[in-house]
Amino acid sequence: MIIKNGNTVHLQGREISYIMMVSEKGDLLNFHFGKRLDESDYSLMYDEWKKGGFISNDLCLDELAQEYPSYGYRDLRMPAYEVENIYGNMLSQLKVKDFIVHENETAQIEGMPSLFAGDKKADTLEVVLCDDAIALEVHLYYTVFDEYNIIARNAVIINKADANVTLKRAYSASIDLPKGDYDMITFPGAWGDERNIVRTPLKRSVMLEAETSRYTSHNLNSFVMIAGSEANEDMGDVYGFSLIYSGNHSTAVKTEMYGDVRIMQGINPFQFKKELKPGESFATPQSVICYSDSGFGKMSREYHDVYRNNLMRSKFTHMDRPILINNWEATYFEFDEEKLVNMAKIAHDAGIELFVLDDGWFGKRDTDNCSLGDWVADKKKLPNGIEGLAEKINAIGMKFGLWFEPEMVSPDSDLYRAHPDWAISVKERTPIEGRQQLILDLSKNEVCEYIIEAVSSVLRNANVEYVKWDFNRMMTDMPYPGFNHAFTLGFYKVMKGITEAFPNVLFEGCCSGGGRFDPGVLAYMPQIWTSDNSDAVARMKIQYGTSMCYPPSSISSHVTAVPNHQCGRLTSLDARADTAYIGTFGYELDITQTPKEEIEEIRKQIAFDKKIQPLVREGDFYRLQNPFDSNFCSWQMVSKDKKHTVVYAAKILVDAHTFTGTLKLKGLDPDKKYKDTKTGAVYSGAYLMYKGKRMNYERNDFSTEIIELVEA
Ligand code: GLA
Repeated sequence: MIIKNGNTVHLQGREISYIMMVSEKGDLLNFHFGKRLDESDYSLMYDEWKKGGFISNDLCLDELAQEYPSYGYRDLRMPAYEVENIYGNMLSQLKVKDFIVHENETAQIEGMPSLFAGDKKADTLEVVLCDDAIALEVHLYYTVFDEYNIIARNAVIINKADANVTLKRAYSASIDLPKGDYDMITFPGAWGDERNIVRTPLKRSVMLEAETSRYTSHNLNSFVMIAGSEANEDMGDVYGFSLIYSGNHSTAVKTEMYGDVRIMQGINPFQFKKELKPGESFATPQSVICYSDSGFGKMSREYHDVYRNNLMRSKFTHMDRPILINNWEATYFEFDEEKLVNMAKIAHDAGIELFVLDDGWFGKRDTDNCSLGDWVADKKKLPNGIEGLAEKINAIGMKFGLWFEPEMVSPDSDLYRAHPDWAISVKERTPIEGRQQLILDLSKNEVCEYIIEAVSSVLRNANVEYVKWDFNRMMTDMPYPGFNHAFTLGFYKVMKGITEAFPNVLFEGCCSGGGRFDPGVLAYMPQIWTSDNSDAVARMKIQYGTSMCYPPSSISSHVTAVPNHQCGRLTSLDARADTAYIGTFGYELDITQTPKEEIEEIRKQIAFDKKIQPLVREGDFYRLQNPFDSNFCSWQMVSKDKKHTVVYAAKILVDAHTFTGTLKLKGLDPDKKYKDTKTGAVYSGAYLMYKGKRMNYERNDFSTEIIELVEA
């Protein structure tokens, strides 16, 4: 809901208020962002705050919380945008010209995904700001949902002058939090070790920037939290910043001279530049900002709900996902039709529903040094083509899925020989290869059209019901500042084109594992391969970190063979499945080598996963024990009606104590009775939450438990 009152505008979400004020000089200020206030006219408070030091004097805006700060005016802090203007300097001052309320509308951003209303009530405020001296207009958009504790922000910058100007920085949002003790929480990592959790205290005058100058990246996710230093999983103030974007990103955080904290999120200004001709505009991606008054858990549940209901467009978002088996770790590049069909037969017999053929099916790709771009089946391996293989898999009773890496080209490929200029390069240097491949230049429309057609033609000609969309190298030799954004827009054009043309195909994102796990990808692909590291113990941390922002149903997790191919660890089949259930479940192993007893186990695992899928997809997620700072890892899903819950619990390393403690559950109804579906034992919700359940782990490392409870 949006309430205009005097010189204030009040955005009200479920439990939050975001109130802006206009100073007598026309500056756009923030008055409050936090717990919900009533609909009073807060413009009456302006004088009181002004006297109390809210406004220090005429020359200085440093004490004021601003909405989109300029450079070279009265604020000495970091600016949200920088424009080299028609006079050749970078000075700017924005004044409020208008507030426009778009009732029952969400902000639409040209060429980029953003939140949609769906069946929720959402309104959007457009604030028109002007710098008349340089004929610059900035439109700030704020979408607020009655049902959520989020504000989604983006900006559009318009050059109204009659000469070109150069945009050098354009954050999506800027927020100034009042003085306090805060920590910044980021999600850094590496290949096979994505989304660790790092908490850094914000000291006075310290500037921290969570940024990458490539795609979303393994090394730093675009989700950032600013939390009160006392905040934890269940209590304390937390502010979340999540960018719906898959390119260079930055969340810049600085504790300023009066102890307040400025946070800005958007496209990374490093390697960014955009020339705006007269009349041209630039739209930033959308930053989804969330406030939780009760710690990280509540914040995660908010993001999970918002993203699965109001971002993810795929019809599969709210549908059961087929249990899949992927051949990558089973065969790598060495397979033929017969081997695949044999695997599929056994997999089908075990209850697996979808057979996915990974890398190596096209061109002459027997290793990773060639053929990306030549999306035509290798007849040596697949004499009947993809169409023939899909028919055979379908005849067994399974769906068929296929791997692509469409944004890439191998120098040894027909595509590269025909269009060397389609690969990203600069004339004066030899293009840099990564995994012996180059990246296609998605800033070119013809390249995007080619990709859409190349993938579409395979999907049109064969019954492919699932696509794994991979991206397997770092971005290096970008031809000019601003290229990364142009590439990202090309990626979204391709995503939109393909996913809208094939709404019945389930798409899974991938980027050497989880290197592009972000809301921009989720807008089109409802699940993402979380990490190439599928070791159950490594996955505890990876999935725990990923769950901070992303819904469990988007977290693709497979049972793979042991010794684990990434780190060599041995874990039980149970531990591997238990760790994968609260995610999107599947297998990635050579099932033709799996012993009979294990196939029996797999059959049971699949039946269990199918039973809990609706809960995992739509329920509330609670983290119980943190593997980053304990020997335990546990999490829990609770259905919205609190009648059904599934708990995953792990003790990582065994010790001599036979008593392994209690596990306190969360999110249940204290007055309901819950029955353990395995043991038949009945407990009250209060007992499970306040006394806790006694855990009896096995006397070996990596012992896990899955407990399912239903209302008795
Ligand atoms: C990436 C993916 C893997 C697999 C290989 C194929 O590393 O993350 O799952 O698809 O590529 O080359």
